[in-house]
Amino acid sequence: MIRKGVQWVVKDPEKENVFWPSEELKKYANMSDEKIYETAKKDRVGFWANIAKEVITWFKPFDKVYEENLPSFKWFIGGKLNVCYNAVDRHIETWRRNKAAIIWEPEPVNEPNRILTYNDLYREVNKFANVLKKLGVKKGDRVSIYLPMIPEVQIAMLACARIGAPHSVVFSAFSAQSLKDRIEDAQSKVLITADGYYRRGKVINLKASADEAVTGTTIEKVVVVKRTGNEVNWVNGRDHWYHELMNDVEDYCEPEQMDSEDVLFILYTSGTTGKPKGVVHTTGGYAVQAYLTTKWVFDLHDEDIYWCTADIGWVTGHTYACYGPLLCGGTQVIYEGAPDTPDWSRWWAIIEKYGVNIFYTAPTAIRMFIKMGEEWVKKHDLSTLRVLGSVGEPINLDAWMWYFNVIGGGRCVITDTWWQTETGGTIINSIPGIGPFIPTVACRSFPGVEHDIYDEKGERPAQGDSGYLVQLPPLAPGMLRGIWGNPEKYKETYFGQYNGKVYFSSDGAYFTEDGYIRITGRVDDVMKVAGHRLSTGELESVICSHPAVAEAAVVAQPHEIKGEAPVAFIILKPGFTVSQQLEKEIIDQVVKGIGPTGKPEKLVFAEDLPKTRSGKIMRRILRALVRDEPLGNIMTLQNPESVEGLKSAIGYKGPG
Ligand code: PRX
Repeated sequence: MIRKGVQWVVKDPEKENVFWPSEELKKYANMSDEKIYETAKKDRVGFWANIAKEVITWFKPFDKVYEENLPSFKWFIGGKLNVCYNAVDRHIETWRRNKAAIIWEPEPVNEPNRILTYNDLYREVNKFANVLKKLGVKKGDRVSIYLPMIPEVQIAMLACARIGAPHSVVFSAFSAQSLKDRIEDAQSKVLITADGYYRRGKVINLKASADEAVTGTTIEKVVVVKRTGNEVNWVNGRDHWYHELMNDVEDYCEPEQMDSEDVLFILYTSGTTGKPKGVVHTTGGYAVQAYLTTKWVFDLHDEDIYWCTADIGWVTGHTYACYGPLLCGGTQVIYEGAPDTPDWSRWWAIIEKYGVNIFYTAPTAIRMFIKMGEEWVKKHDLSTLRVLGSVGEPINLDAWMWYFNVIGGGRCVITDTWWQTETGGTIINSIPGIGPFIPTVACRSFPGVEHDIYDEKGERPAQGDSGYLVQLPPLAPGMLRGIWGNPEKYKETYFGQYNGKVYFSSDGAYFTEDGYIRITGRVDDVMKVAGHRLSTGELESVICSHPAVAEAAVVAQPHEIKGEAPVAFIILKPGFTVSQQLEKEIIDQVVKGIGPTGKPEKLVFAEDLPKTRSGKIMRRILRALVRDEPLGNIMTLQNPESVEGLKSAIGYKGPG
């Protein structure tokens, strides 16, 4: 199961590819020495307690810092706070009142941008919190949000946090069915969506998907933001325009006093089985970690312009395009559209236009830009950049070097941040001002957090060998507290592997010779396609629901740009034959069931698939086939001959 060895080899990191922070960065950094790590290590709970007191405004201080009885654990017990108050209200009591909180860049180049100061944000959030209350949302009720990258998405999330209603944000490119599944699981009362948004110059009718999704669910009210002005279907009594509701409410809404361990949000992510799981994050611990990691990992200063390109529908968007920068009182850019609209220089034009200093994106985007050519980048002045971040998937050496040289002009640090929906914020990465910055190596646990690498038995594998990445308790404050409505799954997925003693990440990793952590990728049936998390099980169940399909197995194939891409092996039911029409139908079914992110790269139709004697499809062999890896012993299979046919169908070349 463990992926052995390395994916990318750094020949001699000591001599060739280690980039320590520049003198300028050291000057900027708050703590340019190792002491921070040493102090935190000596007393991890005490470290977080001190930080929590310093960076959060508590309505009532916590009585106890940490309590643990794994799989359950709590932080800042008895503390009362409100995340919206911390992200907005407290800034308007200072000089930051008139500082830009959000700079929104629409996709159409001829449309004006929008800049919301902290005071603007305060006004909008208060009003929208009152709108939600008026619609009947109470503390503890769930609210689903299906919005594109427009400021109303942050406003809606903060308004939910203000009144203590956990939000469940669903990626706007997800299908109606995906939204429906998530609404049904969370049993949300209200959905916030938009008429549409711009993507590659076209208007995407989001309301149409929302309409399809809410039918027959618990949703009582749908709030619609007018973004594009396109025609939408309307259900009187259920649907309300955002701007009309906002005209009719008071300007102030008292923030709810939330307990540290009250739920802040649910975010659905792919697990190894069919249905996505609702990762639950709570208030106090998440806020502390979101604040501190944004501040330290990105070296965020008051005068900075910060831009995280992630969509709000993913955890990176939650923590680093909403809560983190706002908790810090930072100024952030958010961009509505595609990186290639009107052309491939759009992102670089945005960096130049606003003078972005801190830029956070995914390796897939970088690989795509490498392919498009440097000339798009060269058109713009990127000299304001100081810190670059990478997230979501392993970054390969070429992408790292290009990011460093072409985007960063050879002077910016790259912090490779390893984390997950479950961890709430980055927990393995280097810190500007401290380093080290080694291409393709995420490096070390964030201060106050500790990881180890275990083999199957819970022991350290030999030096250089991959094992399973685990987090040692006390677990980081921003870690998930559960899976919505499924405590058993929570226990089994994260704590089942090593008898409840550590958090099991489902990632492979190894220690470099210098003792730094290098991530090798997922060890379960989860894929990272263009940085997006997808489960093979989820794809298989959608494909199998096509009437012609008898069986399907999906595995991840390496992809030059996207990192990984799904390949589906399919056995048809008797009486059905392969045709272009059928292929199209199956692909359309995936797009409809999951969204365009899940679209298989390739469909491989087979008479038979390799199976164990008990009849289970051997995905290990399919994985090896698409990766040109050794197939291992196939003679124990029920049907070893099935492998031969597949070899020619996918052009298997074997290792080497
Ligand atoms: O496999 C790891 C990979 O992304 C997974 C988590 O995906 P998700 O929950 O969607 O969160 C992504 C954004 C934090 C992890 O289990 N991953 C994330 N960051 C890195 C990474 N793999 C290698 N290097 C990273 N920096």
